[in-house]
Order: sequence, then C-alpha cells, then structure tokens
Amino acid sequence: MTSFTVTPLTEHTGAEVTGLDFREPVDADTGAALNEAFFEHHVLVMRDQHFSPDEFKAAVRLFGELQPHDKKEHHIPSHPDVSYVSNDEFVNGRRIIPGETFHTDHSNHPRPPKATTLFAVELPSSGGDTQYVNMHDAYDDLPQATKQKIDGLKAVHAYLSKYSPRPLGYLSEESRRNLPPPGVHPLVRTHPQNGRKALFLNPVRMESIVGMEDDEALALIDELMRHATQKKYEYRHKWRHGDWVLWDNRSVMHQANPDYDMNERRYLYRLMLKGEAPA
Ligand code: SIN
Repeated sequence: MTSFTVTPLTEHTGAEVTGLDFREPVDADTGAALNEAFFEHHVLVMRDQHFSPDEFKAAVRLFGELQPHDKKEHHIPSHPDVSYVSNDEFVNGRRIIPGETFHTDHSNHPRPPKATTLFAVELPSSGGDTQYVNMHDAYDDLPQATKQKIDGLKAVHAYLSKYSPRPLGYLSEESRRNLPPPGVHPLVRTHPQNGRKALFLNPVRMESIVGMEDDEALALIDELMRHATQKKYEYRHKWRHGDWVLWDNRSVMHQANPDYDMNERRYLYRLMLKGEAPA
C-alpha cells in the first residue's frame, strides 16, 4: 500500500488527501483505503494533481464506473465522455452558472450518480467556491415528528421541475429524447456503504411529492432545504490549482458560487460515477 495522508477539513464533511500522484498506478489496498475515506468524509479533495482528460478519467475510475451526462453535446473537444463546467454558457442572453443553487446531480435518473467529480483547469483569481452540506447530519438533527412525517415519502424528480429556482443550460433535442423517465425517490435514503440515513432533496428537479398537494409539498421541501443548508452542515471548498474534488451525492448537496469577476474564466473537467436506486 502506498502511504498518503487524509486530513479532515471540518468535523463532519470533507477531507484533504495528499501524498499521491494519481497519474501513477494505485494498488488495490490504497484504492480500498481511498474509497473508505470517501464514504466516511463524503467530499475528498486531492491536492496537486496534473491531469490530461484521459488521465483524469483513469483516476476517477478508482472510485467507480463512469455515468454519462444527460447533455451529450456538452463535452471537452475530442473527449465525448468528459464533460466540463464553465462560466461561458449563455441561454437566451442570460449567463448560466451550472449548479448555482443547492442540488444533487442527475436525480431525475432512476439510479442517480453516486458521485460527481471536478478537476480545476482554470480558476478565477478569487471566489467561485463550491459549497457542500452534509445531508446525514441534517437528517439526524430533524425533530422526531418531522422524521416520522417524511420517512416513507417519495418525490418525483423531473429533468427540470416546473418549480425549479433556476434554468438549466442548453439541452439538444437528441439529448432530450434520451432522458430517462422521471425518478421517484424517497426523501430519506440510506447510504449503502456507511449505513447512515440522509435527506435526499433537489429543488431543481423535485416536481411533486407522491400523495401530497403541490402547495404542501413545496412548503415541506422549502422547510427541509432551509434546515439542511444551515452553515453548521457546510464545508465550503476554496479551489486551488491542481485540486481534484470528488463528492458523494448520497451524502451531500452542493452549489457553485457566481461571486467572481465574470471576465475571468472558471473551467473544470467534470465526471460522474454510476449509483444505485436510492432506498
Ligand atoms: C456542479 O453543480 O456540479 C458544479 C459545481 C461547481 O461548479 O462548483
């Protein structure tokens, strides 16, 4: 096993991994230890990496199997299976900042991705942090009456909810045709590896709660979101060049910050890993 260091970044979420160059082969024991750290800390920050797109893909596969993005047309040149986030997309004259409000990725899928990962290629000189909130702790702290109310409830996650707080970027007709039917997922899911319950919320995609009037469902989602996005559940990642960040969509929600000079470019490679049906 190769020696490396895992240093927690907060008491509840996030750990920094140093001492490994992920362009080099990683043995099975080291891979297993990294996966354990991932389940425990939910967000891993691998510092000082230097990846080509293919090297990034190979490194990410240490944690699972790649899941294609819904926007098939949105990829880096010559690499159809490596997507990106950037601040230079406009729809109807409006700049789109991907991930600008708290959400979890691709929850419209029957088996949403277990993880998402970004590698910083270009960063603004300040700002553009990514915020993560711990949905295990948020669930644990709920009053017993709320837990009883929501345990067993299921929500319908469409590609873009009619109640979404923000628009999504351009989706081609072909990509739209290939979307799966809406996912129907529990509001509370149990993480298959760490065994902890977590809230599973996404206002961008949640369109209804099964068996509930929309007004009541929206009020409940709003109440749970206000609870889950409190600062005490947050790890805020300040990007550095060379950062490779991997997060567990079964444990955290995340959001991007549009608080930087938009004349500067923010550009990161982005991949997702296949997950399981939330249960
Ligand atoms: C995302 O939602 O995946 C984007 C996060 C970010 O750009 O910081």
